Amino acid sequence: MHLLGPIKPIARSMAPDAAHRLKPTLSWPHLIALGVGAIVGTGIYTLTGVGAERAGPAVILAFAIAGAVCACAALAYAELATMIPAAGSAYTYTYSVMGETLAWIVGWSLILEYSLACSTVAVGWSGYLVGWLESAGLHLPALILNGPHAGGIVNLPAVIVSLAIAGMLMAGTRESATLNIVLVLIKLAALAAFVALSLPAFDPQHLHPFMPYGFASHAEGSSTRGVMAAAAIVFFAFYGFDAVATSAEEARNPGRDLTIGIIGSMALCTLIYILVAVAAIGAMPFATLGHSPEPLALVLRTLGHPFASWAIAGAALVALPSVILVMMYGQSRIFFVMARDGLLPRGLSAVSKRSGAPVLVTGLTGLFVAGVAGFFRLDEIAELANAGTLIAFIAVGACMMILRRRAPDAPRIFRCPQPYVVGTLAVLGCLYLLFSLPEKTLVRFLIWNLIGLTAYFAYSRSRSVLRREAPVTVAAA
Ligand code: ALA
Repeated sequence: MHLLGPIKPIARSMAPDAAHRLKPTLSWPHLIALGVGAIVGTGIYTLTGVGAERAGPAVILAFAIAGAVCACAALAYAELATMIPAAGSAYTYTYSVMGETLAWIVGWSLILEYSLACSTVAVGWSGYLVGWLESAGLHLPALILNGPHAGGIVNLPAVIVSLAIAGMLMAGTRESATLNIVLVLIKLAALAAFVALSLPAFDPQHLHPFMPYGFASHAEGSSTRGVMAAAAIVFFAFYGFDAVATSAEEARNPGRDLTIGIIGSMALCTLIYILVAVAAIGAMPFATLGHSPEPLALVLRTLGHPFASWAIAGAALVALPSVILVMMYGQSRIFFVMARDGLLPRGLSAVSKRSGAPVLVTGLTGLFVAGVAGFFRLDEIAELANAGTLIAFIAVGACMMILRRRAPDAPRIFRCPQPYVVGTLAVLGCLYLLFSLPEKTLVRFLIWNLIGLTAYFAYSRSRSVLRREAPVTVAAA
């Protein structure tokens, strides 16, 4: 028995019993689309403005910092995802490397990541919907467009889109992944059009002063500011590639498909973000961007492109749900794997014979996502989602390095270059981002994990399949 609970042998992660196995239906074009579908979303469409408010024009630098940290984490992910091509991503890797207790913390953090990321995107989507309807002359009552924090009752559009996506996922993975490809193309075309129309209006004056709030994250009045404060929130824009790793068990040829899926989608998105951030900041004063719930549409309207503005908002409306789709898919898979391991009620891991999807858990996830989206503030939800993700990325960087030492000769289909440098950068970079989040986010995250650990010790630990079958003492091999 490991100090931190039993360690699940890698071979076991890869061989779940047949009744609880997901169907291998996805290949690399699906996975790249899944990756880009999850990565490009509210982070670039909406949080670019929030980041600009926190860092000024240096939000461009914030994107570069968050992107560099994520690239290191993505490399570590790719190595582990191809070594352990089983559903559950960071949770499963941690179970096989650092033991059950830490795996629980990572899994519990991933549940937060995926569900709150869905809620964030739902709220971002609602912001574009309202702008889009208003530019078409349609004004809905504010009471049903905002949560109580903004003087409303409920953000109804955010609730509706969350529930609709849950329904689609319950109908089956395959259809959802194919539809996702179409939505990804729309989303990328809209961002390309945004850059093409905004860059000609680039005014270097908008870059001065570049870092009005300095570099390190710090409180200013009721806000947290600085380049790192912005990096800690725009970090949201980069994740999603881990949803590809989460679906590893459903990949047809995990070695090839996962490597191309994770690295390819990450590289493509980083390039797009830097271009979009430069174009947006160059086009108008950063403070104006920061106050808009639909900053990209605002830029185009201000530049005198009302039709393009309306079209980009329309593209966001059609395509942002693909992010919810992928993240909700990832969330249900984490839940599914934890239930299969006995750590959550096992009935949750039942797969529908008809659609091949874990229907019950997807439905519950949809309700939770809709509840949060309906009543909470966009930046606060995003920051809490980021905290969960950062914990998962730290675990992945650490697991990759530990396995390199513990099992140096184990076959690796994808080998992370300079593993100790990249792994250390991923761990330290994520820690720096984590501690750049506002204090209240860190407190909320701690509370979430205290609830989780209570559930673990009161319920899950004694029901763990691994613990009940036989205490496992072997290291991952
Ligand atoms: N990266 C995803 C987004 O920006 C979560 O919406």
